[in-house]
Amino acid sequence: FNISGFQQELLEWYYQYKRDLPWRENQDPYRVWVSEIMLQQTKVDTVIPYFHNFLEKFPTVHDLAEADEQDVLKAWEGLGYYSRARNLQHAVREVVAEYDGKIPDNPKQLGALKGVGPYTKGAILSIAFNQPEPAVDGNVMRVFSRVLMIDDDIAQAKTKKLFESVTGNIISKEDPSSFNQAIMDLGATICTPKSPTCMLCPVNEYCRAYAEGVEEQLPIKSKA
Ligand code: ADE
Repeated sequence: FNISGFQQELLEWYYQYKRDLPWRENQDPYRVWVSEIMLQQTKVDTVIPYFHNFLEKFPTVHDLAEADEQDVLKAWEGLGYYSRARNLQHAVREVVAEYDGKIPDNPKQLGALKGVGPYTKGAILSIAFNQPEPAVDGNVMRVFSRVLMIDDDIAQAKTKKLFESVTGNIISKEDPSSFNQAIMDLGATICTPKSPTCMLCPVNEYCRAYAEGVEEQLPIKSKA
């Protein structure tokens, strides 16, 4: 597998076609964090207005830490999964108390914050801090299950670990922030669950599933 060719095609595509999303205006780790928490169970189009509103009400870690929980939950109303909002505020208070309001760029400290699991940790480290860390969710597993023709069951925890290891090797060391976001865009717009548009894919020449015509059969998922 030609890693540097894959990286180059993917990044060139991303630089040209990346979606213009509000959390991409800059690399402020707080904005990246809020966006990744909102995006975990909610679609991009739904998140955008909530993201704007939330950042207007709570523009910094300090504003969110000092806010009343009720006001935070109010801003989250309609997004659902309210424990996300509670955990985020709890974690932001930890950041103020323990790190003087600076979101840690250290994997151990970041991953110890409430609600920051492996995915969110990797997303913040890569997108905000330019560290070559994997950020594996269902979309990423779909893309790489096809590119590398990996037929392990993505419902299993050990498969997610396999993908973390695989993507940790493939991620661009030059621009890990764009690399991970490019995979997210690819999964959302081209390498979709049903009827992926492989003809438009910037990395179709690197895709084993496409070469064998089995892209729609991947990934394998045992439970709904
Ligand atoms: N889905 C999850 N994280 C995302 C991001 N940073 N940009 C676009 N879609 C995403």
